[in-house]
Amino acid sequence: MEIHLWKEFLEPYELTVRELVTRFRQIKKGYRIRGEYCPIEDVSGRVKSVPSILAKAQRKGIPIERVGEEMNDIAGIRIICQFVEDIPLVTALIRDQLEMEILDERDYVTRMKDSGYRSYHMIASYDAHTLDGIKKVRAEIQIRTLGMDFWATIEHGLQYKYNFGIPEHIFDKLISSAKAIEDLDGELSAVRNDIMDAQNSMIMYNEMISEILSTIENLYRIANVREVEKIQNEFYRIYETGDTEQMRRFGRELDMIAEGYRAQSVETDEKKI
Ligand code: GTP
Ligand code: MG
Repeated sequence: MEIHLWKEFLEPYELTVRELVTRFRQIKKGYRIRGEYCPIEDVSGRVKSVPSILAKAQRKGIPIERVGEEMNDIAGIRIICQFVEDIPLVTALIRDQLEMEILDERDYVTRMKDSGYRSYHMIASYDAHTLDGIKKVRAEIQIRTLGMDFWATIEHGLQYKYNFGIPEHIFDKLISSAKAIEDLDGELSAVRNDIMDAQNSMIMYNEMISEILSTIENLYRIANVREVEKIQNEFYRIYETGDTEQMRRFGRELDMIAEGYRAQSVETDEKKI
């Protein structure tokens, strides 16, 4: 029998998970910078451990030599959304923005599994650039709401506790709680727009505060310290009041002050030349 070099075998999977997680985090950041609501709440990834690969191969009768071809979730990515409506936005984003072939899709969101499990799965083929050239790596991307994730985590724990033979009274509880989560996701859909608005304005407000603070810091380097101190005190005074409109006006005035200084500093620079 051939010796299995697991570390070498798993290296392209690690690369795939790391790169995909980074891509999704960057997409999320892009939304934040633009001050837009992001359908991705959280991203995580993991490479299946060797013991889990062995156990699953045994459970499913997959020969060890074939796990690369037959096990879809050695590289796993999980995307958590706030709302059910975000799931199709994320799947569209994956199809349009990531250069990956999608090999398979399973919609357990509209059709719950018998276990009560809900999630949207995409099996993708990712080009991992390894030392030996491009290797096509399969990755399973699971897209689900916070509620669906909560349920799946609890159920997964119970499966292990009862060694994949959950007693009937617990199974019944799992089914009824899966339905409760479905209802909950439905209820929350009704307030999605309100929550999106609230989050958008929170993002915008925080962006504005960051910009103001960075302008004050820049001014500190070039302007009169007393004046900057006065400006900073004014900032904290307005911040205390929580008056967004007043803060916006303050930001605009501050920009004008900074603009003036910038002009001056350019002049002196020019003089130096
Ligand atoms: P496996 O379930 O992984 O053996 O593969 P499969 O070919 O049956 O694909 P399926 O889409 O059913 O499941 C893929 C993955 O989804 C699993 O590895 C789990 O991570 C997750 N999953 C599927 N069904 C359940 C479930 O009933 N409960 C939980 N907690 N997770 C599930
Ligand atoms: Mg299964």
